Amino acid sequence: MAEQFFNYVGGQWKPSESGRTFEDINPARTTDVIGTFPESTAKDVDEAVVAAQSAFKSWSSLPAPRRGEILRKLGDLLTERKDEIAFEMTREMGKPFKETRGDVQEAIDTAYYAASETRRLFGHTVPSELPDKFNMTVRRPIGVCGIITAWNFPVAVPSWKIIPALASGNTIVFKPSEEAPYSGLLFVQAMLDAGAPGGVVNLVCGGGEAGSALVSHPDVQVISFTGSTETGAKIGAVCGSMHKRFSMEMGGKNPMIVMDDADLDLALEGILWGAFGTTGQRCTATSRLILHEKIHDTLVSRLAEAASKLKLGYGNDEGVDVGPLINQKAMEKVVHYVEIGKSEGAELVLGGKRATGAGLDQGFFFEPTLFIGVKPEMRIAKEEIFGPVLSIFRVASYEEAIAIANGTRYGLSSSIYTRDVNVAFRAMRDLETGITYINSPTIGAEAHLPFGGVKQTGNGHREGGWEVFDFYTETQTIYVDFSGRLQRAQIDIS
Ligand code: UN1
Repeated sequence: MAEQFFNYVGGQWKPSESGRTFEDINPARTTDVIGTFPESTAKDVDEAVVAAQSAFKSWSSLPAPRRGEILRKLGDLLTERKDEIAFEMTREMGKPFKETRGDVQEAIDTAYYAASETRRLFGHTVPSELPDKFNMTVRRPIGVCGIITAWNFPVAVPSWKIIPALASGNTIVFKPSEEAPYSGLLFVQAMLDAGAPGGVVNLVCGGGEAGSALVSHPDVQVISFTGSTETGAKIGAVCGSMHKRFSMEMGGKNPMIVMDDADLDLALEGILWGAFGTTGQRCTATSRLILHEKIHDTLVSRLAEAASKLKLGYGNDEGVDVGPLINQKAMEKVVHYVEIGKSEGAELVLGGKRATGAGLDQGFFFEPTLFIGVKPEMRIAKEEIFGPVLSIFRVASYEEAIAIANGTRYGLSSSIYTRDVNVAFRAMRDLETGITYINSPTIGAEAHLPFGGVKQTGNGHREGGWEVFDFYTETQTIYVDFSGRLQRAQIDIS
């Protein structure tokens, strides 16, 4: 019998009121069931929101540095439990153990960073246009935040949202992805053990029903979502109509440009990591490779050779470079895009099919795949595949490379390899993305810097770094007149 796990609502572990559950399986070994989780309903969500709302008053009035102490403790507990959580995360969602350790580390970094920021939740003081008057801004917590996340960074990404939300004095209802509820639960457990009071942190597992109930709940003031651009558009429409504050982190089609003067050994390593790390299932994955014609053939053949040697397998086994896709649906999607690529006239030079062989038949493994001769109008050049499929372009100039790099509806991350400092600075200016890397691949964001994309990747907010505190706080502008008389702004200014 698979182990049964529960929601955490109002300080208690409990099943869904519906009694329904769903199974969570290991994508590398599909007979390995992690457990069953509650298939939550609108009623479950409502109960969690009520709990979060009633915890808000005491949590928001706790001095911010005291909240920070709990977050520092969270960092300590995650550090102690890093390997244990990483092992379970690999089992649950497939990426290799060294990557899941990195995922937990990102949450640890976020916890310590936010803990210190609780002593630095600055407002501004600014001069008044009138004498004997003092002007300032202060930050206020907002209320209940609904947190909806994807499965590919099942601890790191929730931590980017939940930790600053709590640091700012908000309470949360967290709905992890149906593909990674256990990692989410382990993260919640660490928060509880660190001292987060009941009701401040609520966990509601489930799918679309729970997600839409959270988005449309009138007492949830803030929604933070990471997932597809399509789902984000629906969530954004509801939030917009209800005047909620919402942050959307959505798709990517991230380009890496390699110029003719680049260090090709360095670029090769970067491509392998950027394109095939997390099996290409990162919103920041390098999914378009734009090669200068002078180095195109050399780099493609070196890349094909190196990529063919990547070891696929269960990520908790030694020496595995690339794990499985997350599920059958993802497998079908990737297979479909390979067919599209071929029919559009791109040339498949590596992979393109489900991986088979020892140990691989039990999971959703797909061969690292390279297409060359990709043209900007092709669908494999424009659409997010979310798998180990790299679309390669050949260009004659820097200008052509930039035009291709900017030619999609997404704008999350970008990268250029060059040894020419002038070209590097031009690229920093010309690349239209929220994040740009010079001489490293499109993945690898650090917790204390802003993370987010432009165009249809995002809606203008940033996670991580100092900017996230603007999202999770409301600004209050305060005017203190100590003149003892009526002073009229814009009128009494002589
Ligand atoms: C994501 O894919 O949703 O920069 C987040 C990176 C990671 C985070 C990725 N630190 O690739």
